[in-house]
Amino acid sequence: MGSRAKTGSDAELSDVRKSGELETAELLLTAEIYNRSDSLTEDDLPPRIRKHYFDPVTKKVRRPIYVTEGDVQEIYGLGSVREAARSLPFVDREGLRDQLRLTVFDVGARWFVKRETLERIRSNPTLAYFYENYDSLDVSYAEAKKRNQPLLTDREWVQAKIRELTAKVEEADDILKLVRIKAPEDVRDRMEDLVLTGEQVKEIDKAAKALEHRDYLRDVGLYDIGKLLFVGPPGTGKTSTAMALSGKFGLPVVEVRLSMVTSQYLGETSKNIDKVFDLAKNLSPCILFIDEFDFVAKTRTSEEHGAIKRAVNTLLKAIDDISLVEDGVLLIAATNHPQLLDYAAWRRFDKIVNFPLPDQEMRREIFKKVLAKIQGQVDSQVLAERTEGYSGSDIRLVVREAVLNALLEERRVIDQEDMEKGIQEFDRRIRDHRGSAAT
Ligand SMILES: Nc1ncnc2c1ncn2[C@@H]1O[C@H](COP(=O)(O)OP(=O)(O)OP(=O)(O)O)[C@@H](O)[C@H]1O
Ligand SMILES: [Mg+2]
Repeated sequence: MGSRAKTGSDAELSDVRKSGELETAELLLTAEIYNRSDSLTEDDLPPRIRKHYFDPVTKKVRRPIYVTEGDVQEIYGLGSVREAARSLPFVDREGLRDQLRLTVFDVGARWFVKRETLERIRSNPTLAYFYENYDSLDVSYAEAKKRNQPLLTDREWVQAKIRELTAKVEEADDILKLVRIKAPEDVRDRMEDLVLTGEQVKEIDKAAKALEHRDYLRDVGLYDIGKLLFVGPPGTGKTSTAMALSGKFGLPVVEVRLSMVTSQYLGETSKNIDKVFDLAKNLSPCILFIDEFDFVAKTRTSEEHGAIKRAVNTLLKAIDDISLVEDGVLLIAATNHPQLLDYAAWRRFDKIVNFPLPDQEMRREIFKKVLAKIQGQVDSQVLAERTEGYSGSDIRLVVREAVLNALLEERRVIDQEDMEKGIQEFDRRIRDHRGSAAT
């Protein structure tokens, strides 16, 4: 019944979209509402609008927002919107800069809401703020806000912040060689792609709560929270989980690779470690992720250069001095050699989160997730039974091999046999590798 009607309205909608009327109206209304209301912040603007008007020097979107045809075109990736702007009865074009202006706000607001724009309004907190009290429209500002990525997740904001923080520091280049800083939107790992144990989920939920209730925890004097050590064999998702938390919590992540410490001028290393921690504190709230943490232990036991030992001691002390509750920094370290860590290192963490090799049930789930976008009939239960001892990363490799082998035969559909072959190949490779490693 509705199918014909739907095609009709789709066609109408795409006509409108082509001409850019909706986009022009949305941007003008958003700008006007934002300009008028001081209680709206950058977090109330949809990312693409915010990014366009973001000023890296003040790290803000300055009022008033002016709208030109060029702005509409760039923000929405459209061709010329001149015709669209002309056809809207409540829009004026003026001046040399092609600036657009709402002539009568109310007329524009009514025009907009009569189009198929409910979804746009629900995902634009500034519009939702206005339309929440408009007629009996089913729109909630709080909901729209929840759906909208806040300013902190934009790479533009993170980059501006780093520039500001390193502007006064002479050794800025050295520090930035030690770390990689990513905005949540630039992190590729996603929670949805990971299969976690109940314990892992619980610890992540606790960290989320601690972040949310920092003030309360400070008030009651609980400071030793928010330092997690991820422990487990290679390929069990430690790095992926730490990175994915950036997206989940909407926090930038400062990633430190301890092995890079050695490639630095040793004399400067201690100083740089302090600077990295300062950077994290100033970027706060953020995640500070120290990968390859066992590096600490290795250097403590071996007859290393005294400067490295000093650097390690600096690192341990820096870990002591940073706090989720006070500084807004969630510290996560990861290691696959826990036996190398001594008590001095262990006791710095309030939670040890285990990353075991996945059991059969988890392996089945991982197969399902990795295969989700790939065409073909595959029995993940059987695959899970056949892959005892495989890590999540091993499973990924098996799937990749199966896909590549199928592509060799120009197939984009894989079957159980492709997967079984992938597993056999993998088993053989592991045996060869272990064989040669043993000698
Ligand atoms: N539990 C899991 N669920 C889904 N994917 C997983 C899981 N464990 C590992 N993977 C996948 O395997 C790959 C490697 O994982 P990752 O790099 O996070 O492992 P790791 O524990 O950090 O290993 P290492 O100790 O060698 O650094 C990633 O692509 C990740 O998505
Ligand atoms: Mg890792």
